[in-house]
Amino acid sequence: MDKIEITGGQKLSGQIEISGAKNAALPLMITSLLTPETLTLKNVPNLRDVNQLKIILGNHGTDLTVDGKRANGNKYIGDTVHLTARDIVDTTAPYEMVSTMRASFWVLGPLLARCHEAKVSLPGGCAIGTRPVDLHLQGLEDLGAQIDLEDGYVLAKAPGGLRGGRVRFSKVSVGATINVLMAATLAKGETIIENAAIEPEIGDVANCLVKMGAKIEGIGRKTLQIQGVDALEGAVHTVLPDRIETGTFLMAVAATGGEVELIGALPETLTAAIDVLTTAGVEITPTDRGLKVARRNTPLNPIHIETQPHPGFPTDLQAQLMALMTIADGRSVIRETIFENRFMHVQELARLGANISLNGDTAIIEGVSILNGAPVMATDLRASVSLVIAGLVADGKTQINRVYHLDRGFEKIEEKLSNCGAQIERVSD
Ligand code: EPZ
Repeated sequence: MDKIEITGGQKLSGQIEISGAKNAALPLMITSLLTPETLTLKNVPNLRDVNQLKIILGNHGTDLTVDGKRANGNKYIGDTVHLTARDIVDTTAPYEMVSTMRASFWVLGPLLARCHEAKVSLPGGCAIGTRPVDLHLQGLEDLGAQIDLEDGYVLAKAPGGLRGGRVRFSKVSVGATINVLMAATLAKGETIIENAAIEPEIGDVANCLVKMGAKIEGIGRKTLQIQGVDALEGAVHTVLPDRIETGTFLMAVAATGGEVELIGALPETLTAAIDVLTTAGVEITPTDRGLKVARRNTPLNPIHIETQPHPGFPTDLQAQLMALMTIADGRSVIRETIFENRFMHVQELARLGANISLNGDTAIIEGVSILNGAPVMATDLRASVSLVIAGLVADGKTQINRVYHLDRGFEKIEEKLSNCGAQIERVSD
């Protein structure tokens, strides 16, 4: 199993290209189930989760081809993937597939909308919390689906097809919003989704659906209005840049010091994180091509934040911010309000000398003047990358085990960082 070894202490300087967003690419790929025509997606990041979803979609009958050459020979430009679900050959998403990647549960809405039936395994628990799917099911029932649970599977039927309805989510959910939005595009009549999530990835999916012929109003707002159509067509769409990867590199440079330009970064997709880092004393300025981040020899100010749905501070950057605050000048407080168990990085950061105490959903971080390298274990995607950030500043060598978590969501991270001067390498057993 691969490991990542980092020798800390180098400032970062140079440029990093931001890849396409994992959390947009996954649902965008799933929208291909809604049409028999070809959906072409550009800038698809080469990640484990993306490759796993290709297998899952293939099981439903999607033909996938990937362009052989990358434009301009640029290795971070992403793949161009053509997805054609001419015939859906299987409306079942089995446990073995859904359990490896929760986003695959989102095939439920499109399969139900197009084939009027679907059988999808419940995703089960996961390392960061229980993550129920009640909002997905309630939303689809509001569109007329009949839903039963049997042997760990959701059995959904909509004889004669889904019909538009009023969906009011009691809690903001990215996945439920995407699932119901996709389903509503082919339902008969009008659907109103209230208290929808407004993460930029949802806007990206909605914009792609519009290119495919869907009628959606209110994109980017908390109320979405969808007029169902009889069929969707093919389209060409470019995946938006990854705001979580962007935020991760902002924090890496904030931790090590130095100056890096993040090419392709979209500042408007991560204003909360930029505000927090600016408060912490990090210099962030927009450029023609993205964002420049710098920290000179100034100390880091501690921060107090809580994670919130967009446009608040994202839970997917909580672990990275915590890694940064381990070396701040004073006490920081981070409250996690989205997932109840998203603190697995705390004990690993402690192995590097961080001083963090947990009280329920709140972490209190007393900044220390130095971290020391040590072997650590990656536990989930964002927790793993927080260990990379800590390893970049720690004195001596940090070895990160189980890096397959990192490969789920960060494209060529060791290459991108080493191009900026980090001493980081992948070691295979
Ligand atoms: C998406 O997960 C992302 N995944 C997550 O990114 C991200 O952390 C999360 O949104 C929040 O931003 C993808 O985009 C593939 P939710 P999702 O439904 O949709 C509760 C990463 O690291 N809830 O918005 O599963 C839920 O338990 C991943 O890239 C219900 O109660 O998250 C949580 O407390 C991890 N019932 C809250 O809502 C439901 O039916 C928000 O979850 C659904 C969710």
